[in-house]
Amino acid sequence: MPAITVITREGEERAVDAGAGLSLMEAIRDAGIDELLALCGGCCSCATCHVKVDPAFLPLLPAMSEDESDLLDSSEHRDATSRLSCQISMGEELAGLRVTIAPED
Ligand code: FES
Repeated sequence: MPAITVITREGEERAVDAGAGLSLMEAIRDAGIDELLALCGGCCSCATCHVKVDPAFLPLLPAMSEDESDLLDSSEHRDATSRLSCQISMGEELAGLRVTIAPED
C-alpha cells in the first residue's frame, strides 16, 4: 500500500495508507479526513475533492481530462498544482505523495 501524506486545511500532516486501486479521494475519506467533501462520490461532477499536489509528483499523475479541468475552473483556488483527487488512481508509483486539501470554495 502506498503511504502518502495528506495536509489538512489546518496544516496538520496525516500519514495515510492508500490502498492500490482506490482513488486518492477514497483513500483520504477512508482515513477519516472528512473535510474533503467529495459530494458527487467520485463522478467528476462536484469539484469538492480538490487537492493541491506536491509539484514533484505532478509528472507521475495521469493526464487531466477536459471535464476535470472545466470543473477545476469553477474553483477560485485553482493553481498549477490543483487536481481532483477522485480522478487519481493510487498505485505504488505514488508512494510518498504529498497533497494538501484545497481551501473550501
Ligand atoms: S468527488 Fe466530485 S469531482 Fe471528485
